[in-house]
Amino acid sequence: MKKKIIGLLLLCMIIDHEVKGQTERLNTEKYRPQIHFSPEAHWMNDPNGMVYYNGKYHLFYQYFPGGNEWGPMHWAHATSIDLVHWERLPVALYPDNLGYIFSGSAVVDYHNTSGFGKDGKIPLVAIFTHHNVDGEQEKRKDFQNQSLAYSLDEGKSWTKYEGNPVLHNPGITDFRDPKVMWYEAGKKWIMTLATKDRVTFYSSTDLKNWSKESEFGEHTGAHGGVWECPDLFPLKLNGKTYWVLIVNINPGAPNGGSGGQYFIGDFNGKDFTPVNTQTRWIDYGADDYAGITWSNTGERKVFIGWMNNWLYANKVPTSTWRGATTLPRELKLQKVNNEILLASMPVKELEKIALKPVVKTNVAIKGDNDLMNGIKLHSPFKLEIKSDELKSFTISVENDHGDKLLVGYDEKKNSYFIDRSKSGMVSFDENFSKIHYAPRIARGKKMDISLFIDVASAELFTDEGLTVMTDVFFPYKPMDIIRFKAKNGSLLKEVKYTPLKSIWTGDKL
Ligand code: FRU
Repeated sequence: MKKKIIGLLLLCMIIDHEVKGQTERLNTEKYRPQIHFSPEAHWMNDPNGMVYYNGKYHLFYQYFPGGNEWGPMHWAHATSIDLVHWERLPVALYPDNLGYIFSGSAVVDYHNTSGFGKDGKIPLVAIFTHHNVDGEQEKRKDFQNQSLAYSLDEGKSWTKYEGNPVLHNPGITDFRDPKVMWYEAGKKWIMTLATKDRVTFYSSTDLKNWSKESEFGEHTGAHGGVWECPDLFPLKLNGKTYWVLIVNINPGAPNGGSGGQYFIGDFNGKDFTPVNTQTRWIDYGADDYAGITWSNTGERKVFIGWMNNWLYANKVPTSTWRGATTLPRELKLQKVNNEILLASMPVKELEKIALKPVVKTNVAIKGDNDLMNGIKLHSPFKLEIKSDELKSFTISVENDHGDKLLVGYDEKKNSYFIDRSKSGMVSFDENFSKIHYAPRIARGKKMDISLFIDVASAELFTDEGLTVMTDVFFPYKPMDIIRFKAKNGSLLKEVKYTPLKSIWTGDKL
């Protein structure tokens, strides 16, 4: 008997060891992001249905479990208690006879307006686009319609509404990506829907019956491609409420392909009126698309995007999976020269994975310097630099294979840039090997940058999040050197290098 128990215990230990080994293997492949969410295997694109409920951030996302390229879309699922560490869960929504499950949102229906709640259980309701492939192939115009699914067990299982679709297509080929929010002042739900070259607002009191309120954008903003994945929400600045409208667009982004523009204005339950019509972008890099915010987070707004670009998304050289999210970012408003702007900075929860930093003060740069004096770096890491004077500079993130990712500021152009043309593997697509520029929007002379480097991505946050750039890259070997070049010299008040711990190590806090 004793022998049997010891044998069983040993077996359990072996299985446990095997499972852990497997999990580790699954997160240590070449180019596997260590501080970003990515699916264990197969294709992902847009983040969907992000909702915070009962202490958990839910992240659903466009997913094809049958391969590493875009295919019949499902909603996969993951949750996090801190926006940093993620638990991957089973697929939540499968395609059905109404079509593939395209992008959308989710809300907590606290007052059971939908009637989906039962026995006092509050329903989570997902509002998504049903994309009907047969209709598309028959060249009909109405193959995208909006549908509902609900969950009474905090997102574990989902039931599709038998009355789907709830919002029928009036004959617009691009009619998708519903983002729904509760509009307290009018006690109704507002759906912001991408409708080809504009957004259309609909309202409802029960999530099932929708009436059109208005349209926005036919003659405003960037129009180099189709409008997709919008988001509308209020945000306060010095006690005053403004409304932020995010509109993703593909192609037509400032550095080519996919990107996210935003408008600041007012929303009265019917119309959105911008206070300024200049086109502004949440992120000027090439790889932050379809980004929207979590619902049910109160006044705090947290944004996450798909860290990729439709120009080459199906070709990026990862192995068992394709696609990842950006870092989650907190959105804030800032007033610069009388214009209200949207700034985004990585969420403060990321401090949980910060290891002991190396801090240097008053670093005088002449020419080209190894910033860490020969210390071999460990990626992922965060590099923060502050100075009283912003002059042209280039940070070169390198390895001894000769791969270089250049991140910097060009005083003549008054622009930040990321040059990934020599960053490693670039030939998989002709659009990849590029230098990307982003205008500096802040006015002052001070320099303030945070650069997050994961194994295969760079996220640059400057001037407290006013200009942001996200670019992926694929070095032949891990990057482990940082050089700082300033032709005309520079005095850096503070340089802080913080190694970051992988989010997949298992220890959550
Ligand atoms: C944006 C998008 C959405 C659509 C989804 C399909 O990347 O094209 O408009 O719902 O992806 O996967």
